[in-house]
Amino acid sequence: MRITVIGCGYLGAVHAACMAELGHEVLGIDVDRAKVGLLAAGRAPFYEPGLPELLTSAGATGRLEFTTDITRAADADVHFIAVGTPQKKGEYAADLSYVDAAVTALAPHLKPGALVVGKSTVPVGTARRLAGIVKAAQPEAELAWNPEFLREGFAVEDTLRPDRIVYGVAEGAGGERAKTQLDAVYATALGNETPLVVTGYETAELVKVSANAFLATKISFINAIAEIADVTGADVTKIADAIGYDARIGRRFLNAGLGFGGGCLPKDIRAFQARAGELGADQALTFLREVDQINMRRRVRAVDLTRELLDGSLLGKKVAVLGLAFKPESDDVRDSPSLDVASQLRAQGARVVAYDPQAVENAKRLRPELDYAASSAEAAADADAVVLLTEWKEFRELDPAAFGAVVGEQRILDGRNCLDPEQWRAAGWRYRALGRP
Ligand code: UGA
Repeated sequence: MRITVIGCGYLGAVHAACMAELGHEVLGIDVDRAKVGLLAAGRAPFYEPGLPELLTSAGATGRLEFTTDITRAADADVHFIAVGTPQKKGEYAADLSYVDAAVTALAPHLKPGALVVGKSTVPVGTARRLAGIVKAAQPEAELAWNPEFLREGFAVEDTLRPDRIVYGVAEGAGGERAKTQLDAVYATALGNETPLVVTGYETAELVKVSANAFLATKISFINAIAEIADVTGADVTKIADAIGYDARIGRRFLNAGLGFGGGCLPKDIRAFQARAGELGADQALTFLREVDQINMRRRVRAVDLTRELLDGSLLGKKVAVLGLAFKPESDDVRDSPSLDVASQLRAQGARVVAYDPQAVENAKRLRPELDYAASSAEAAADADAVVLLTEWKEFRELDPAAFGAVVGEQRILDGRNCLDPEQWRAAGWRYRALGRP
């Protein structure tokens, strides 16, 4: 099929490359010239494992192109909208200006029979409104909503082999036609028996925000238990293991620590609450406020624990920060708990030297006032304390004995419960963690 992907960020660039890999003819469109230039040259504008290889292999087939020229969308059968929906400044609601701009720019170029497919995470009710814009410009075009569940760091794998596919389509013949077109787009995954849920617009929109709200709740649940573990001497990691054996609960997303961040979970639970309020159903989601508060308290707790490790004062102390990205295998620092904690430590008088395997450049742009290092050893040289904030493999595999020789004082905060406390203590470290004795 001839496909466009409008918006070539963490979601769109991966989607475009994967669609070309699956045999479609793909045109990625973005307003950012620099990004389009890099993608057109086969280079990923951000860190995502597997994406550079995919850009090269799909690019070589001649089926993958990138442009800033929206008029070139006119030939395509299917148009994916993959632009961002960040949190609005000063309020909880989602900023839909990029989605609206993309659909409005595309609408005059739609040919009869074209299908517009929303992938961005939007407040329930958006798809029906956008369908009106599409129909007004081209009565023979359709709109469908096809939420995306990919995780950064596994985006290529999740797109090529999704665990489920959801279509939200209009009622009647238009919806039937949209389904047929989407079946052709996802023929490979559907052929591999990927579960498919076909539903209306509102349900599809709610599937996406419900999934993220559930994941956020699961993380905050275990972090709330970590708070209780902290005041009782219990070990939250053991609690997670033990309750996780119950298949109804499951161990995944029960890692207590610094909590969730990134470009999705935090803003999605807030936008969901804002939308519920607009719909007169705000009571249904008041618990998400608590989920958010538990999550934000983790950052405060990490700063407090670092101060305790340093015998009560951060002033003038050198703190090595390991990890800045919101999670490993990503260079994304949007709402990163790690970067937030690094900034707080500095604001409270510590001299922070931070290192991350991929996110230093992005962190520098947001927080130029921090000092950055090119390796964990450089960051930790003569440090009074080390705080591990993002659980990259290279940090999980640090040798406590060798690393102990680099630092000034052997004190470590394991902000992600990813180290073996016994091993670190045996090597002479004072070890602290969130929710672990
Ligand atoms: C999340 C969802 O997992 C995806 O399914 C969804 O498609 C995506 O948002 C989106 O809406 O676009 P992502 O933001 O890439 O994906 O990150 P996650 O893997 O969900 O992690 C989010 C945060 O939770 C990270 O900061 C991570 O460190 C934290 N986390 C995760 C924990 O603190 N504990 C856990 O057990 C798991």
